[in-house]
Amino acid sequence: MSAIFQKPIVLITAGPTREAIDPVRYITNHSSGKMGYAIAESFLEKGFAVVLVSGPVTLKLAHPNLTNIAVTSADEMYNACRPYFLTAQIAVFAAAVADYKSAEVCTQKMKKSGNELNLRLVKNVDIAYEFGQLKQKGQLSVGFALETNDEEQNALKKLNTKNLDMVILNSVQDEGATFGYDTNKITIINQDLVSRTFPLKSKKEVGKDIADAAISYANNQSSF
Ligand code: PMT
Repeated sequence: MSAIFQKPIVLITAGPTREAIDPVRYITNHSSGKMGYAIAESFLEKGFAVVLVSGPVTLKLAHPNLTNIAVTSADEMYNACRPYFLTAQIAVFAAAVADYKSAEVCTQKMKKSGNELNLRLVKNVDIAYEFGQLKQKGQLSVGFALETNDEEQNALKKLNTKNLDMVILNSVQDEGATFGYDTNKITIINQDLVSRTFPLKSKKEVGKDIADAAISYANNQSSF
């Protein structure tokens, strides 16, 4: 479904990516897409046009102002975002993109042979990084940092390396947070190094907190 854009556009990536190994196997992660879809819903409720580029998930979202693009791999996700990034006022990179893909994708199912199998992996495109290089004045980009340790330090590194305006830190150490849950616990850190930690909330409420923070930061107001 495709929406006609007369409203400010928000580009959102969501869900996992799947990187094929052969016709029946792939590399992926546990992302359900719930966080990215909740952010999309919040922006739609605020009157934005949303382009949601989603990896394989079971979620459905329909709205007259929503353009929903289903992709499988990181390369597909990147290519699907490209026509929209420069017209988007806000980009939110909520997808859990596989950092590596198989160097070769076998056209036939790989046969079982010895006791070991070595798979050569090559780096995937870093979507948030690539768009960070293209970002223009007046555009705001929000990334996530999914961490297990040294959370704040790693989040700040992602904020700077990927030229983000805001990073949403979530840690798998927090009970009920990140992959698959209906809840999440986040800390938002912006480029002014102002940070705010929110309590565990439903992903729907977290989506609203993220949309509110992004909109007020885009309007040069700190929401903290
Ligand atoms: O989908 P759910 O089950 O609701 O779970 C939500 C979530 C845990 C997936 C979500 O809250 C989250 O943390 N998303 C980002 C996961 C991630 O890949 O984090 P990262 O720290 O590895 O990546 C940093 C940032 O770069 C992210 O904005 C990511 O989207 C982006 N990235 C990473 C690698 C890559 N090749 N391209 C990217 O755009």
